[in-house]
Amino acid sequence: MGKQFRIAPSILSANFATLGLEVTNAIASGADIVHFDVMDNHFVPNLTIGPLVCEALRPVTDAIIDVHLMVKPVDRIIPDFAKAGANIITFHPEGSDHIDRTLALIKDNGCKAGLVFNPATPLDYMDYVMDKIDMILLMSVNPGFGGQKFIPEALKKLRLARAKIDAYTAETGREIWLEIDGGVNVANIADIARAGADTFVAGSALFGAGKDSDPHRYDSIIGALRAELGKV
Ligand code: DX5
Ligand code: ZN
Repeated sequence: MGKQFRIAPSILSANFATLGLEVTNAIASGADIVHFDVMDNHFVPNLTIGPLVCEALRPVTDAIIDVHLMVKPVDRIIPDFAKAGANIITFHPEGSDHIDRTLALIKDNGCKAGLVFNPATPLDYMDYVMDKIDMILLMSVNPGFGGQKFIPEALKKLRLARAKIDAYTAETGREIWLEIDGGVNVANIADIARAGADTFVAGSALFGAGKDSDPHRYDSIIGALRAELGKV
């Protein structure tokens, strides 16, 4: 069986004046998942979007909405995102005082749950909560902004995370997705896949492509990303 790769456009770099259309165009061009970046100007030095925008996007697409919470504290807002139609909710361990409890809260609200690791955050946080994790998200930039440069050290961390996940899956049969976020582009996506990622966030590389007026503006960039993944 060939490996399944998923492309997850980060709407942070989309045109917010036409957000619904941006999402449907990206999905129509072959993207798989909507990556939804939530920032609170406290945990990270930027402010973005909340449950209201998630709720507005829900009826425009059947695609999985992958909510990346860069907020602290994190628990209060989780049920709101579940009600707004999120499918996956991930958070940073630094954003929660009780990581196991927060993972359980996400699951109790009917969503898939995941942990996000900043570039310098050790992977140890996942070791005793694997049974509650559906996705591991590794940051390959410091969170807060789109358009930053990929930190190469993330490749080493991906290999380590891949080994932990594979060992767990071999033991339990349960699948955990491994997502990478930050600075992914056509030039580096194949190396990132070889290091073990199966799900690829792409913000500026994707939404920066093509002309605003062209409804097929994302066809060629998604095609180029897929062509690189095809070489892996
Ligand atoms: C950064 C966000 C990312 C970001 C990725 O804090 O979590 O999802 O939007 O954007 P690019 O692909 O431009 O690095
Ligand atoms: Zn993100």
